[in-house]
Formats: sequence, structure tokens, C-alpha cells
Amino acid sequence: MRIGVPKETAPNESRVALTPEGVKELVAKGCEVVVERGAGLAALCPDQAYEDAGAQLAEGLAALSESDMVLKVAQPSTEEIGKIRSGAAVASFLWPTANPDIVRALCDRNIDAFAMDMIPRISRAQSMDVLSSMSTIAGYKAALLAADALPRFFPMLMTAAGTLAPARVFVIGAGVAGLQAIATCRRLGAIVEAFDVRPAVKEQIESLGAKFVGMALLTEEAEDAGGYAKEVSGDTHAKELDLIASRLPNVDAVITTALIPGKPAPVLLTNDMLRKMKAGSVVIDLAAPNGGNCEATVPGETVHVNGTTVVGRIDLITSMAGDASRMYSKNMTSFLGILLQEGKMNLDMEDEIVKGTLITHEGKVVHEVTRLALERGGTA
Ligand code: NAI
Repeated sequence: MRIGVPKETAPNESRVALTPEGVKELVAKGCEVVVERGAGLAALCPDQAYEDAGAQLAEGLAALSESDMVLKVAQPSTEEIGKIRSGAAVASFLWPTANPDIVRALCDRNIDAFAMDMIPRISRAQSMDVLSSMSTIAGYKAALLAADALPRFFPMLMTAAGTLAPARVFVIGAGVAGLQAIATCRRLGAIVEAFDVRPAVKEQIESLGAKFVGMALLTEEAEDAGGYAKEVSGDTHAKELDLIASRLPNVDAVITTALIPGKPAPVLLTNDMLRKMKAGSVVIDLAAPNGGNCEATVPGETVHVNGTTVVGRIDLITSMAGDASRMYSKNMTSFLGILLQEGKMNLDMEDEIVKGTLITHEGKVVHEVTRLALERGGTA
């Protein structure tokens, strides 16, 4: 089996799908790996390291056009799909329900496409969970951005010039990104409190040394059967906004990470609520790529509202391309571990992870949610 790793072509994409460590693993499993020259440079993976790990370096399009399976980070463009060999496979982020044209193009070219963003969040698939890897980076960076934008220290400092009180940070949403933001803020010495609709996260928040600020919601009100947050009732949402508003005068920074899978980000900080924050305070809105948890957020920009700085960065992952690629590559080789046997593709169509991620197969859309979304004309 010949695995190809092309250079990413999406604007500002500096990650690479497979690092030299990943190449070594796949070569040891009997695969041939072809890497486009320069594919890993922006992720601090030089060509020589790939060669030393056992990869062949290729010029131009060979990694796309001469491979049995192509590994990418960003979804393939229609131009790239046109270069991939018919009958080959591709694994990448795909967001299939939001990209019906890409899914149709993959079908038309008879390419088996695996969406890494659809890896189910189950224990067996934890080592393949690219969304968790990327959210870990986003949560870490959010804490650093908050510390950087705040015109005061995060830790308590006892200096000859007096004692400076620690900053107070409020994290809204304590999933993967939120918990990493809490942990990083704590490491930097801030006092942290966090809110989430799911009662199950109380213990996790407290285990990181933060205070849980919660509402007395029942698990079935806040979570679906898969353990994900679901949309709360209008009444509960109003109470939630009151609770968040009550915390704002006490904190210096807010990091928002609230997400309900498949829905636009819930707005949890209105412009009116921002007026309750101290002058010089900071909001880091990790949900910016999905519209934002803060009414004032402008995706990709930093705006100022009544003395509060609202940061809507959408490039946090690519700004850490080295470790983002290392984590993605590890997730990818772990995923290939269930697809390959003795260096050959061996698909178990009954496997929950295969079923969850395989979007197109033998020229058809085989992923039910994607198929229904395409029939409805686009998004899920
Ligand atoms: P996750 O699903 O692990 O966590 C989301 C959390 O939000 C869950 O704990 C959920 O219970 C909570 N939540 C949902 N509705 C809520 C509400 N109304 N009030 C309070 N909490 C609520 O998601 P993950 O992986 O941590 O991602 C978090 C956010 O970070 C997402 O919006 C994601 O798109 C974003 N992200 C942003 C990146 C960037 O570059 N800015 C990169 C990676 C992720």
C-alpha cells in the first residue's frame, strides 16, 4: 500500500498530515510512504527527516496521483480530487454535511473518503480523536491570549513594589478546550471558575483546581444520549444568562468554548452583559469559527466594546503547526491501525469507527447522516 502525503494547499494551512515519526510507524507496518517535497516545512518537519524515517520524497503531484491512500489535514479541494487516482482513498478533515460539492466530487471520482472530523467520541477511538487534539491546542492558546491581552499579571506576585492580586478567569463551557484552558490558566497562577450546562463536568473542573459555577440542571436536561450538550429550553437559557451575568463584575477574563454539535454556537455573552465587565477585561471567544459565544465577536478580529477586548481568533491551531501536526499524525496512524492489515486496506464495514468516518465508498455516499444532508440540499 502506497500512502501519499501532499503539501497542504489551503490558504494559511501550515500543518502536515503525517510527521516523520508517523512515517516510521507506517513503514514498519509494511506501507510505502511518499511525501511531497516541502510538505512538512511549516510544521518544522524537514524533508531530510522524512527521508531518514523511510519516506520517498516526491516532486509536484506524485503524492496525490500515485498513491493508494492520500493523507491530508484540510479537506481536498476539487482540483486535488481531480488528481487523486480513481479507486484510491483519502483521509482528512472533511466536514461532509457542510461540503456537499466536495462529497459529490469524491463520489464521481470513485474515491473512498474518510472524515477525520467524524471520529466517534468513544473510548476506543480516543487516540484517533483529531477534534480533541485540536481543541486541546485551542484551549491552551486561549489561556495564553487572555494572559497576553490582559493589562495585569495572571499570578499573584509579592514584589518589593507591593503585592499584586492574581487575575480571575471565568471559563464558559468545560469540554476539551475549556478544560485545557482551565488547566493552563491555573498553571499561570490565575484563580479560575467555570460554568457548563452538563453537571457531569463539575468533578473535572474541580480536579483542575477551579471552582464550578453551575445551575442545578438534571443530566437529561443538558445532555443527549451520547453525552454531548443539547440545546436547553428558553427558560433555562434565560437563567443561564443571569448566572453568567452575575459572575462578570468579578472577573478579569472570560474564555468561552460552548459548543453544541451540529448547531451554531449559543450566544452566552450579549453586548449588554459585556457592560458589566471591568474596564480592561478580556473575552477570548473560541467559538468564533462557529459564529461566537459572544454577541460582539467578529470572527478573525479583535474588537473593543465599552473597554472590554473581545478576541475572535480563528487561526489558533495553525499558529501551533508543529505540535498540531504531531498530534494529528499520531491520531492518523492510530486510525490507520484499524483500516490496515499487513500494510493493506482491510475495511471492516461493521466497525463503529469505520461506519462513523467512511463517507464515500465505491462511488456512493455510504454515511447516513451525510446522505440525508445531501438529499436535503446541503447542511445537516
Ligand atoms: P466540546 O464539545 O468538548 O465542549 C463544548 C462544551 O460546551 C461542552 O462541555 C458543553 O457541555 C458546553 N456547552 C454547550 N452548550 C453550553 C451552554 N449553553 N452553556 C455552557 N456550556 C455549554 O467542544 P470542544 O472540542 O472543547 O470545542 C469547544 C469550542 O472550541 C468549539 O466551539 C470549537 O469549534 C472551538 N474550537 C476553536 C478553535 C479555534 O481555532 N478558535 C479550534 C478548535 C476548537
